[in-house]
Amino acid sequence: MFILAFETSCDDTSVAVFRDRELLSLVTVSQIAEHAKTSGVVPEIAARLHAGNALSALDDALSKAGIGLDRIDVVACTGNPGLVTSLLVGKTVAKTLSETLGKPLVWIDHIEAHMFANFLEREERDIEFPCVCLTVSWGHNEIYFWKSMFERELLGETMDDAAGEAFDKVAKAMGLGFPGGPVISKLASEYDGPFRGIFPLVTLSKDSLDFSFSGLKTAVKREIDKRIGAFGNPRDTGSSRAWKSLRIPEDSRAPLLSTEDMREIAFEFERTVAEILSKKLFLAAESKGVKSLVLAGGVSANDFLRQTIADRASAEGYRFVAPVSKTYSQDNAAMVGILAYYRIRKGKGT
Ligand code: KG4
Ligand code: ZN
Repeated sequence: MFILAFETSCDDTSVAVFRDRELLSLVTVSQIAEHAKTSGVVPEIAARLHAGNALSALDDALSKAGIGLDRIDVVACTGNPGLVTSLLVGKTVAKTLSETLGKPLVWIDHIEAHMFANFLEREERDIEFPCVCLTVSWGHNEIYFWKSMFERELLGETMDDAAGEAFDKVAKAMGLGFPGGPVISKLASEYDGPFRGIFPLVTLSKDSLDFSFSGLKTAVKREIDKRIGAFGNPRDTGSSRAWKSLRIPEDSRAPLLSTEDMREIAFEFERTVAEILSKKLFLAAESKGVKSLVLAGGVSANDFLRQTIADRASAEGYRFVAPVSKTYSQDNAAMVGILAYYRIRKGKGT
């Protein structure tokens, strides 16, 4: 069975071809260069770029897989959640192909696809059920009790921003461009001072499995203002107010921040986020009495987060998996294709 998969939920135009569970090709056209100009995704621009890139990505994916459209048995596509205008492009291409080829179409849930990215390039038995799964991206941040392949229960979610969004907003406040995760992570790795815990470890109540990152993001912005000081003078403590009164955007005054300050802020921020995410994941596992942990979504590409969870997991006897490569952590059509494969195999296809 050949599966043709599409993912256009945000800013990556991605097409994959599978033979059953085997990934034959994956082509992803990134829009980062365009969105970097605005330090964030503008939905209208994302949709236009998807429309311009979708057919060439499809051609490339088929030619890398060495098959023609006539061999495709099933079309799969991300249906939700995501940016409506972006989703619409992939959905239109997938539906048109499914109808003209006369082949079934499988709609895929984006968050579930991130979870299933963990099956890519792994043996099926490597994901042990029941487990708890932390899904953490730009647009969503949840913890699930993943009981069996197609049975999951939401245990907690973000009350405001997702961790990925916080990474992006902190990077923007430091004038570092988009997306924020990789650049914050790189800066953090360049800092060799101690962790001082200057930002609040927002865990809500003791037993809560929900998240809140907007307070942390605001604390980071305040720290940036404090270090810059009013009009670039760190001794002037009226900094935030002074800048606000001038209406100078935060990323334009970021060059006033020293490189060492930037490194320390990135380091403190990244560690605080990793600490919060990891704490909640282990709390969820304890509450459900499971010894198996899974990480998924764009932020699962973060090395420090992976290491934090892996260290505690090995110290406390947990099994831990995350996508085998950063390509599979971020939005991609391979995770759509593998989920479609399992759904069809279980008779949950269309
Ligand atoms: O899953 P994803 O590609 O898109 C959504 O479905 O939302 O996640 C994108 C998010 C962005 O916020 C990006 O900054 C973050 O993942 N990200 C990272 C890293 N690489 C990407 N965050 C922290 N560390 C990274 N290395
Ligand atoms: Zn995603």
